[in-house]
Amino acid sequence: MTDEGFLAVEDVSKWYGDEQVLHDVSFEMGAGDVTVLIGPSGSGKSTMLRCVNRLAEAQEGSIRLDGVDVLDPGTDVNELRREVGMVFQGFNLFAHLTAVGNVALGPRRVLGLSKSDAMERAREELERVGLGDQFDSYPAELSGGQQQRVGIARALAMGPKLMLFDEPTSALDPELIGEVLSVMHDLVDDGMTMLVVTHEMSFARAVADEIVFLDNGRVVERGPPEQLFERPEHDRTGRFLERIAGHD
Ligand SMILES: Nc1ncnc2c1ncn2[C@@H]1O[C@H](COP(=O)(O)OP(=O)(O)O)[C@@H](O)[C@H]1O
Ligand SMILES: [Mg+2]
Repeated sequence: MTDEGFLAVEDVSKWYGDEQVLHDVSFEMGAGDVTVLIGPSGSGKSTMLRCVNRLAEAQEGSIRLDGVDVLDPGTDVNELRREVGMVFQGFNLFAHLTAVGNVALGPRRVLGLSKSDAMERAREELERVGLGDQFDSYPAELSGGQQQRVGIARALAMGPKLMLFDEPTSALDPELIGEVLSVMHDLVDDGMTMLVVTHEMSFARAVADEIVFLDNGRVVERGPPEQLFERPEHDRTGRFLERIAGHD
């Protein structure tokens, strides 16, 4: 928790056609911080994440990442995406490539590493996510939890300064969720800066420096987990948390 403005999102608004899906969203985080975005389906969580790496275009407001003006038309989007790793709900691995092949692809193609250096980096990152024994497995031979860990290794192999996670465990069978959360917990311990969308509230409570509750594209409230979970300021926050707890 160093400089607060490592990622600074200020008054971000976004429309899809006539529908405004983000309304003046603001939050900021320091390097090494973990922020968890929570909120009902359709509240704009994925859109907010996608604005940070410009997979979606915010029409108003500002986003600064480590001194870079993300929304500036002059900002190099490819460089931005190299620095911002993203892990999705679906794993989107290449079926014809092994675990190592999937993870080595970015370092080889995008970072320009030699084949052997890219493979070595891929093996290191697979070891980091506990898949040191699955280098040569194809996605179809891996469980959903293992595939998602390959997805995390793939993002880490680019050496990101910020990791975005969009419901990384939502597609997994319940018994596989823990291994993915455990890898994410290790990343937190390593000091990775992480912006995470999840419904896993015990994980959020354990690792988040701040929780941001979005509803209908607006930040209803944000604060440390103790505050949000135990003394929410808004009825809507309390009601949402009760609903989520009911599904645990
Ligand atoms: N590509 C898109 N085109 C049009 N509308 C979209 C698109 N992506 C998301 N939306 C709309 O934006 C709103 C927020 O969606 P989303 O960010 O996916 O919410 P969440 O991730 O919280 O479920 C929803 O009303 C959704 O239908
Ligand atoms: Mg979403």
